[in-house]
Amino acid sequence: MFEAKPLPSFASKRDLYASLAQQLAALLEGEPDAIANAANMSALIYQILPDLNWAGFYFMRGPELVLGPFQGKAACVRIAVGRGVCGAAVERKASIVVPDVHAFPGHIACDSASRSELVVPLIKDGRVIGVLDLDSPHPDRFDEEDREGCERLVQIYLGASELPA
Ligand code: SME
Repeated sequence: MFEAKPLPSFASKRDLYASLAQQLAALLEGEPDAIANAANMSALIYQILPDLNWAGFYFMRGPELVLGPFQGKAACVRIAVGRGVCGAAVERKASIVVPDVHAFPGHIACDSASRSELVVPLIKDGRVIGVLDLDSPHPDRFDEEDREGCERLVQIYLGASELPA
């Protein structure tokens, strides 16, 4: 059985992401199923990263994003490219840190408790195949260290999982 290890509260964010990366690699090792891995990755992130109210995936299905495995409240299912923070991250092919979701034009509020957000695109062979989306009930919850840490987690996910070409 896999037991996620929380870090003591004095550990730095850098240590937190180093531990999370190690745990994620161990959790996904030898398992190529992209949905199972997304489900376990959402659960691990939601359990380990503090102050989140949603953590999960959207995958590109044809021209739009469709909800994948997640932890948190039930969420909107379909997001067009260019819409919301998730759709903007697909369009820009880049991560987006939103300190205040109310100030982001077109933000899609799935949970009214959300105040800040981080979206990291999943890029395979130059093509965006989905996004990892984290929401927090606290304003300004995510910084550059979170962005870099989550981009590293996404690389581990992409490396472990068999994904559509
Ligand atoms: N807030 C996102 C929508 C997805 S939910 O947060 C789970 C957005 O604006 O794209």
